[in-house]
Amino acid sequence: MAIRRAKGATVEDVDGNIYIDFFGGAGVMNVGHSNPEVIEAAVAQIRELTHSLDVPNPSRRELVEALLSLLPQPINRVFFGGPTGSDAVEVAMKLAKYNTGRYPMVAFEGAYHGMSSGALSLSSGLGFKEEFLPLLPEVHFVPYAYCYRCAFGEEPGTCGFECVKYLNHVLEDPHSGVGKPAAVIVEAIQGEGGTIIPPDQFISRIREICTAHGILMIVDEIQTGFCRTGKMFAFEHDGIIPDIITMSKALGGLGFPISCTAYKEELDTWPPGKHIGTFRGNVLGYAAGAAALHFMVKENLAAHSLNLGHLMLSWLKGMEQDSEIVGEVRGKGLMLGIEFVKDKATKEPAPEVAKNVQFHCHRKGLLIEIGGHYLNVARFLPPLILTDELAKRGAEIFLDAVREAEKSL
Ligand SMILES: Cc1ncc(COP(=O)(O)O)c(C=O)c1O
Repeated sequence: MAIRRAKGATVEDVDGNIYIDFFGGAGVMNVGHSNPEVIEAAVAQIRELTHSLDVPNPSRRELVEALLSLLPQPINRVFFGGPTGSDAVEVAMKLAKYNTGRYPMVAFEGAYHGMSSGALSLSSGLGFKEEFLPLLPEVHFVPYAYCYRCAFGEEPGTCGFECVKYLNHVLEDPHSGVGKPAAVIVEAIQGEGGTIIPPDQFISRIREICTAHGILMIVDEIQTGFCRTGKMFAFEHDGIIPDIITMSKALGGLGFPISCTAYKEELDTWPPGKHIGTFRGNVLGYAAGAAALHFMVKENLAAHSLNLGHLMLSWLKGMEQDSEIVGEVRGKGLMLGIEFVKDKATKEPAPEVAKNVQFHCHRKGLLIEIGGHYLNVARFLPPLILTDELAKRGAEIFLDAVREAEKSL
């Protein structure tokens, strides 16, 4: 398809077809396409100033103040590191290494942190990096709480957080082969890894381990941030405070590229000039981002995301019983995933089914994303201004597409 325009939670292609957007620009369009309040702020900004490197200006200040009012204390430093999420991850990793004087990093299986060399090193998908290895040395991957496919063969509810225990073991055993890391980087809910929602306490237990071992905890909120999961930031579900937070995507309001790394004041040890760049800080992104944050708070998008997400889960959850090809339906707020399998007992992944469902959805006017370890997870990241009515129509198209895919097997 080629896109002509987009509004709210719909996208129109160049042939005039309208699609319900459950893709949301890969989790960028939280406040909705063409949000009038954000457009107004962006247009006013274009008339005033469009480039300032990272030199202070009123819009930068407004965004900093808005972010600081939303971030938990003592996270009170924000750093605009470059246009994309990957840039925020690079900053976070450099900052952790600079402050600890250590090099190793721990990341999780299923992680996605971006495509620049450092961020790709922290991402687990071999499909993205196999041909480019070795990337950064001393990046170690440990299992995430992917309970549907537990690396330790445990079942949710009865397990003793074997994955967390394993992380602890890796850090404590002098023969684990892993040097003391500068930081552990984690997504509070894994996005590209397949919308993997860890059980309560997974993130808080990682927090405890990091604190106990004097290791920094970086939480990547690039996809989960800004009301996506029913809270301003997904780590809030577990009541923790990370040391470093990475943000991007919805931060730019309407897709203006900007990223930010926020951290505790005590980590602000590097002198000016340690991380520079021509597009460090995007004035349009500042203005649109500040307007978007005001809009999110004013409209209480976090609550809407939580409530509508619950409703959508209730419409879709029945597929786990009714369909032979749906292994699991999961979600938090408006971040939902449906995992397809060939066989429910063996859980053999069914990437071709996911592709087929995506194709059917597209033909019937619904945009969705595919992700997951095996590219077998249909993913929804709609704009958070999605109405109940559009959500219902989109869910019906999806359910229909699943039935079609099942029939064609
Ligand atoms: C959790 C997470 N981190 C980092 C990134 C990389 O962001 P970008 O594509 O803007 O570089 C993404 C992108 O999908 C992401 O989902």
